[in-house]
Amino acid sequence: MQPTKTATLSFDGKSIDLPMYSPTAGPDVIDIRKLYSQADVFTYDPGFTSTAACESTITFIDGDEGVLLHRGYPIDQLASKSHFLEVCFLLLYGELPSSAALEDFETRVTRHTMVHEQMHNFFRGFRRDAHPMATMVGVVGAMSAFYHDSLDINDTWQREVAAIRLIAKVPTIAAMAYKYSIGQPFVYPRNELDYASNFLSMCFAVPAEPYYANPILARAMDRIFILHADHEQNASTSTVRLASSSGANPFACIAAGIACLWGPAHGGANQACLEMLKEIGSVDRIPEFIARAKDKNDPFRLMGFGHRVYKNFDPRATVMKQSADEVLDLLGVANNPLLQVAKELERVALQDEYFAEKKLFPNVDFYSGIILEAMGFPTSMFTPIFAVSRTVGWISQWKEQIADPNLKIGRPRQLYLGETTRDYTDIEKR
Ligand code: SDX
Repeated sequence: MQPTKTATLSFDGKSIDLPMYSPTAGPDVIDIRKLYSQADVFTYDPGFTSTAACESTITFIDGDEGVLLHRGYPIDQLASKSHFLEVCFLLLYGELPSSAALEDFETRVTRHTMVHEQMHNFFRGFRRDAHPMATMVGVVGAMSAFYHDSLDINDTWQREVAAIRLIAKVPTIAAMAYKYSIGQPFVYPRNELDYASNFLSMCFAVPAEPYYANPILARAMDRIFILHADHEQNASTSTVRLASSSGANPFACIAAGIACLWGPAHGGANQACLEMLKEIGSVDRIPEFIARAKDKNDPFRLMGFGHRVYKNFDPRATVMKQSADEVLDLLGVANNPLLQVAKELERVALQDEYFAEKKLFPNVDFYSGIILEAMGFPTSMFTPIFAVSRTVGWISQWKEQIADPNLKIGRPRQLYLGETTRDYTDIEKR
């Protein structure tokens, strides 16, 4: 990569020239890698709001324009024309597959959906009321105790096998976490089903009777998987990259990503959003909650609203809203009170100058919970479903980073405001 221009930083009578690079899309970047060695200063950017941590060719977001591209393809086109495993192939390998390549990929994933039978024992150690995300962090991390032939990150074949195993087995583990939490027996994957239908079967089938996934729900499930698959360098993806930079094995890195996703400011927002809609309960209480969201002294935030990058509509929320209308209408619950509250809350918030001024729009989590609840999932399964989908994004970014010749262990510095050197004081003198 060759510099396209130069930035000059001047301070304390010094002047430092820093190379700049121009991306194929998005803002130019200033390369500060040599800043500390040349000028003995750090940059300061808590939350990395203005920091490009890596090069990537996987996903591009334009927050001002509300654009989301996966390998150049707009998310709304992928959501309407593609299906999740094809999007997985695109994210992993960079191009849409031929029919033969897609069939081979789908076969490889399908034949890795079962987990080692001994992994069933892990679940018995958890309380039944454990949050499924707690179970997933534990069991996905434990995959590194079983799949020893795909731990060596320096072996291209092992990296490929680990990627397929994670995309194939994380849904199985998520479904097992759900079944365990409701006291029902685990349901094995069924190879004749597509990815989304198989996930619904593992969650909702019971041994006592045949299960047939509703094709409408399967399509909605597949679309939810597509919409959550990857999202540039978000908090959980950055966690996976940072864990991977130390050479940690892929299962440990993905377990770290699941742990980070759990937070209500990130992937946990879909659960928090539905719980908020239930707390609001009816449209006449919306003004009360809008006022609370605007009150600086009230920690309450409108869950499912706002985004670090999108200062316009989250394009995924637009697709999700359409899907919510379709699914609830087809299920005969179009007048779902939560959907009515969500639509009115969105309308009122978008007319309010606080939200307009701060550019707070509905994000991917605002409508997803309504669909998932209508499909029969408890709120505790919303973030695990996000994790099932985001596994392909995490593992695609993980593979990209490992192949980067510039890979270094991630090690940020700090603005230190603590005590300078002082001598120990004996307890008698304190
Ligand atoms: C995801 O990064 C990604 O790509 C994430 C994700 C992905 O696919 O990986 O898109 C998935 O995590 C979506 C976001 C889900 N989170 C929520 O819905 C939780 C509610 N939203 C917020 O907590 C917040 O909007 C964040 C965390 C999402 C973004 O916060 P920022 O960018 O750090 O912005 P901020 O917290 O500094 O807020 C800016 C201002 C503040 O007011 P001031 O201090 O400037 O006066 O906006 C206010 C905030 O108080 N604000 C909100 C608000 N979000 C921000 N006020 C009320 N309700 C909200 N939801």
